[in-house]
Amino acid sequence: MSETKVYGHRGSMATFPENTLLGFHEAVKQGVDGVELDVQMTKDGEIVVIHDETLDRTTNGTGYIKDCTLAEIKKYSAGIKYSNFQLFDEKSWISEQVPTLQEVLELLIPYDIELNIELKKNMFHYEGMEEKLLSLVEQYGNGRKVIYSSFHLPSILRIKELDQNAGIAWLLDHHISLPEDYIRTLHLEALHVSKDVLLTNSYPWRDMYSSIRVWTANDRDQIKQLLDLKVNAIITDFPEKALFFRSERKAFV
Ligand code: G3P
Ligand code: CA
Repeated sequence: MSETKVYGHRGSMATFPENTLLGFHEAVKQGVDGVELDVQMTKDGEIVVIHDETLDRTTNGTGYIKDCTLAEIKKYSAGIKYSNFQLFDEKSWISEQVPTLQEVLELLIPYDIELNIELKKNMFHYEGMEEKLLSLVEQYGNGRKVIYSSFHLPSILRIKELDQNAGIAWLLDHHISLPEDYIRTLHLEALHVSKDVLLTNSYPWRDMYSSIRVWTANDRDQIKQLLDLKVNAIITDFPEKALFFRSERKAFV
């Protein structure tokens, strides 16, 4: 069985601005096996990489993404809010913008890593988002392994309908009965399960660890537990730390 992969959550979000080119580049430099990111859609139909439905928390702009054009969103800094971070560098961080998915895909071209795109459909239905995503990945994905995940099941099922070869994963923050039945019936590539759900009762998931990615595991003991279980991947805000724990274990095997 292959070793547990380490995915950088929103890049390397404990140390660099989340969902930015800077953060993704840093995660790659740390040696991650994959990165996770979140997508929303602008008023003019562009796919942008940002966690929230609004600009407010992570940038110096305000308002809903769905009400702004890409040009409007690009005026704001996606790094300025992180001046409390230890590595904050005024010159380079303030000029960070909310990236488009295309920009992230282009940044990743030289690197052989997996990509988890989370479709954020918590508040709004972004018409045509799934088609757009598949087309961007087709053009700029460089053949990499891409997993489309969402809490919103219809959205990933739509992806599968559009492309039977697409890898889809359902995000879970609650227990479900007979998870393997969901995987089989819905043709899921994996389940993305919250660490609390998985670690409080690992029994229902026991035979399926190779099809389970766990989010968001940051605590040392939890990361070690998940490495022991040999889950498919750990999605973490501290990829460097998780990679270190994994290499430490290898040294003692
Ligand atoms: O994909 C796992 C995780 O990112 C889901 O939660 O809120 O961090 O997007 P959130
Ligand atoms: Ca996410």
